[in-house]
Amino acid sequence: MGSMRLLVVALLCAFAMHAGFSVSYAQLTPTFYRETCPNLFPIVFGVIFDASFTDPRIGASLMRLHFHDCFVQGCDGSVLLNNTDTIESEQDALPNINSIRGLDVVNDIKTAVENSCPDTVSCADILAIAAEIASVLGGGPGWPVPLGRRDSLTANRTLANQNLPAPFFNLTQLKASFAVQGLNTLDLVTLSGGHTFGRARCSTFINRLYNFSNTGNPDPTLNTTYLEVLRARCPQNATGDNLTNLDLSTPDQFDNRYYSNLLQLNGLLQSDQELFSTPGADTIPIVNSFSSNQNTFFSNFRVSMIKMGNIGVLTGDEGEIRLQCNFVNGDSFGLASVASKDAKQKLVAQSK
Ligand code: HEM
Ligand SMILES: *[C@@H]1O[C@H](CO)[C@@H](O)[C@H](O)[C@H]1NC(C)=O
Ligand SMILES: *[C@@H]1O[C@H](CO)[C@@H](O)[C@H](O)[C@H]1NC(C)=O
Ligand SMILES: *[C@@H]1O[C@H](CO)[C@@H](O)[C@H](O)[C@H]1NC(C)=O
Ligand SMILES: *[C@@H]1O[C@H](CO)[C@@H](O)[C@H](O)[C@H]1NC(C)=O
Ligand SMILES: *[C@@H]1O[C@H](CO)[C@@H](O)[C@H](O)[C@H]1NC(C)=O
Ligand SMILES: *[C@@H]1O[C@H](CO)[C@@H](O)[C@H](O)[C@H]1NC(C)=O
Ligand SMILES: *[C@@H]1O[C@H](CO)[C@@H](O)[C@H](O)[C@H]1NC(C)=O
Repeated sequence: MGSMRLLVVALLCAFAMHAGFSVSYAQLTPTFYRETCPNLFPIVFGVIFDASFTDPRIGASLMRLHFHDCFVQGCDGSVLLNNTDTIESEQDALPNINSIRGLDVVNDIKTAVENSCPDTVSCADILAIAAEIASVLGGGPGWPVPLGRRDSLTANRTLANQNLPAPFFNLTQLKASFAVQGLNTLDLVTLSGGHTFGRARCSTFINRLYNFSNTGNPDPTLNTTYLEVLRARCPQNATGDNLTNLDLSTPDQFDNRYYSNLLQLNGLLQSDQELFSTPGADTIPIVNSFSSNQNTFFSNFRVSMIKMGNIGVLTGDEGEIRLQCNFVNGDSFGLASVASKDAKQKLVAQSK
């Protein structure tokens, strides 16, 4: 049965090539690595599952990496590139610096994948897969992850500063930021549900706690009970930057509590609460619907994550399959920066 199907696919491909169609994989497909890396999902799952025991936040951090990758020159692994002579790393952009996490786990995943399927799976695809596994591990929906992305040869820090939405954005700005990516209002409300898990630093919402928009008062759309909790956690003039759960009711679970929090004015970031507290907004009925029905949220999340994962992808012979996710292949600076001698030897061996 399986081999029959394989034969049919092979024949179809042969036909396509003979007929002179250009084989240009313009579209991603969930079966992209079925023959070349059949155990890809269990391998990625294993690494994330293991990491989650010592770091319950890792799934959230990995999902955010995929988002921050896709919004900057497409889902092309550009966020993973480190500084070199020629790369201005996106990791140093304002929305990323001292904030993005999980880069080491992505490298662990890449190493495990390279060990089974050398020179085959892109770093951009690893981020897309990791985001889906993060959802499932948190108790959220799974979906068939379209694959076949290629990795970029460039990064763009300016674009990262420009395209990634800020936590103090109002609804108009949030919608505009998503529209640039071809994402609509439903996608905005749905994907903001990613804040059902993970953490945020005081610096991302302290503007709401003491002197909101120079009013001398806190944000009026912030629950007063929650306000006191947050003020204790984030004192004025503090010298550090404490972390707080993005979802105060179920911090590590992927569920629809993010939306019911908004109904009680318990959204953490201004950008979260805007979705429910902007007077007359078309986002309010969507928040209401997701808060009352988790399945509705989950089915929309599947659709919007796939949509986000399609932004500006490189396919076919565009870009490359990076051997080490932090560096473009052949970057001697990158090779030199790989700390372990073992890893370096492996990298050299693999590039032959
Ligand atoms: C709508 C606009 C969005 C804004 C303004 C925003 C902003 C933020 C901010 C400020 C943080 C805290 C970062 C820190 O303090 O280090 C954060 C965390 C997070 N964001 Fe968003 N975000 C948005 C959309 C999204 C989307 C679309 C997703 C994924 C689908 C997402 C997933 C996450 C996750 C999972 C975390 C927690 C990460 C961790 O714990 O490491 N966010 N976001
Ligand atoms: C890449 O940069 C990050 C900091 O953004 C650092 O933690 C990591 O060690 C670097 N990776 C390599 C392979 O140099
Ligand atoms: C980064 O993106 C900006 C805005 O699209 C563009 O003007 C600039 O040329 C890009 N820089 C690089 C290094 O690609
Ligand atoms: C949102 O913010 C922008 C930029 O600060 C501002 O021009 C606009 O008036 C704001 N919109 C609303 C509805 O508050
Ligand atoms: C709030 O901020 C504004 C502008 O920085 C300032 O003039 C005002 O005194 C502040 N109010 C309080 C109560 O701190
Ligand atoms: C914070 O620092 C400002 C001066 O920078 C001072 O006026 C204010 O009283 C301080 N607030 C607290 C709560 O310590
Ligand atoms: C961190 O939070 C604790 C309360 O949970 C508070 O006592 C401490 O001052 C905070 N530190 C900073 C740097 O905000
Ligand atoms: C504030 O949050 C609490 C639960 O944390 C809730 O009982 C209360 O109704 C909320 N207040 C408002 C105004 O929504």
